[in-house]
Amino acid sequence: MDRTYIGSLKNVSKDVNVRLDGWVQYVRDFGKVVFFVLKDRTGIVQCYVGAPHEELLELAKSLSPDDVVRVEGKIKPRPADMVNKNMENGDIELEAETLELLNHCIPLPYDVNGDPNEVTKLKYRYVDIRHSDTLDNLRVRSVASTTIRNYLTKNDFWEVETPYLTKYTPGGARNFVVPVRQQPGYFYALAESPQIFKQILMISSVDRYFQFARCFRDEDLRADRQPEFTQVDIEASFITEEDIYKLIEGMMVELFKETIGVEIKAPFPRMTYDEAMEKYGSDKPDLRFEMIINDYTENFRESNFNAFKQVVQEGGVVRGLYWSDPLDRSAMKVLEQAASGSGNRFVFVSKSLDGMLTNGPKAVFQNEDWLKEGTYVFSAGNEDKVLPFLGELRLALGEHLGLLHNNEYEFVWVTSRPMFEIADDGSLQAAHHPFTMPDVTDINEIKSNPLMVRARAYDIVLNGVEVGGGSIRIHNADLQRAVFRVLGLSDSEIEERFGFFLDALSCGAPPHGGIALGFDRLSMILCGAESLREVIAFPKTKSGTCPLTGAPAKLFTNQSKELIPIFKQIINDEREGG
Ligand code: AMO
Repeated sequence: MDRTYIGSLKNVSKDVNVRLDGWVQYVRDFGKVVFFVLKDRTGIVQCYVGAPHEELLELAKSLSPDDVVRVEGKIKPRPADMVNKNMENGDIELEAETLELLNHCIPLPYDVNGDPNEVTKLKYRYVDIRHSDTLDNLRVRSVASTTIRNYLTKNDFWEVETPYLTKYTPGGARNFVVPVRQQPGYFYALAESPQIFKQILMISSVDRYFQFARCFRDEDLRADRQPEFTQVDIEASFITEEDIYKLIEGMMVELFKETIGVEIKAPFPRMTYDEAMEKYGSDKPDLRFEMIINDYTENFRESNFNAFKQVVQEGGVVRGLYWSDPLDRSAMKVLEQAASGSGNRFVFVSKSLDGMLTNGPKAVFQNEDWLKEGTYVFSAGNEDKVLPFLGELRLALGEHLGLLHNNEYEFVWVTSRPMFEIADDGSLQAAHHPFTMPDVTDINEIKSNPLMVRARAYDIVLNGVEVGGGSIRIHNADLQRAVFRVLGLSDSEIEERFGFFLDALSCGAPPHGGIALGFDRLSMILCGAESLREVIAFPKTKSGTCPLTGAPAKLFTNQSKELIPIFKQIINDEREGG
């Protein structure tokens, strides 16, 4: 008999025989009759074994949680007084006629109804997936990838794979490197993204490319960062920013509809990078709530609040958030926590008919007659510091006020970020990546004032998470070389690292551009999950460990025999060379 999934029992007529395969959830033994709940990836259903089947009864009594069984029998409506409205399939049950134990499960390594720590769950990931929302998240993720594939295919994109073992291209994220046995002293870099290859595909006249590409980056991990993650990588020729916006908006509309049944409104709002920083203190503004940063500099120029007045007179700014309701100490505490350790300070002023609550000098604020009823959070100082700080406080306040709803989806395009920024070591670095087209193509203009140049780049932000980023690319070899030079690369370094790419750009490169969507991040939001770990089957911990397999691990003896002489040789060469 063919197998039936439990999730489709709703459509099966009563008294029809079916075969179910799955895992026992729990067993209730009433002597002459035994009930057990069976689960597969689609749902749960109660099964029972009655007295006429002596042998089955004995087997059913011996079952324990997570045993793997096959059961055949008839689907019956439950007696009216036994219907369980709170349980899926609570109005039916399966009367077992045969029961087979396919595999026994030892007592589970942790209490699946308890609150095990993250590492335990990842160590026994198979138990965790079987018993947590991650199972359904993987289903949603699968629907999402199918939807995206279909959408892009329908829009004339070809799926092309590019190498993971490639060449280290400095300037982006830190790479993982892989030693090569056949070429001692030489290493592959694991691709941090298919960027150069997808551009070369455009030069190859592929015209419209996409790929679900795994990317590898050796960077500090957080809830929304994994060392290997998946991008929906896209590139197209003869296009403009508008084509990309339209393509991705159409994709998001289909994606949200197919995966979670939500209608998304397109087109999405757009905002320049400067506007996002100015109003939201972030290049990834969360638009689920409308609380923007206002400029209060002029209000404090002649204020009695000397601390702020002095900042303003020294050329600094006072910016602040305003919320129309007066808030209490609990909001102040939340802000204090968000601010702690940041080195920034804020003043909280909450004015109501009953009086004023503030963590600053109350008497001073009582004289500021421009203050309206409601709550203000001010910070004073240098704009570069004050804006991101207020951006953080804005989010903390939004969370405290319950404004960050999981089931609201607010997209925004953030455009026109600066082309270059100053790195921690004081050097210039590309803000997106060095292949991005600047908004001016005059090489002298770029050289003379690089920090003024804007990039033809765009990020797509959803609920304050950067879910994708891309740009129109440089397709002219001279301009590309000039940008590398502005970034401080010498001609020989340019040749060594990017010579092959400049050759390609000189060989009939069409104008082109693209984007990469963070597929794990998108899945996380679609699933209402808090962390990427909930939507990746086998994720790594914060320190980059896989508790399931124990990776990363020391080399096995046979590997070290091969590799250690190679490393020794490299060290020797370095010494001699240096
Ligand atoms: P970028 O580096 O902005 O662009 O990456 C694109 C998107 O990938 C996601 N992402 C991550 N997701 C999980 N873990 C990580 N460590 C991680 N890092 C990035 C983000 C991000 O928006 N080649 C360019 C794209 C292009 O220009 O077309 C690139 O990789 O959602």
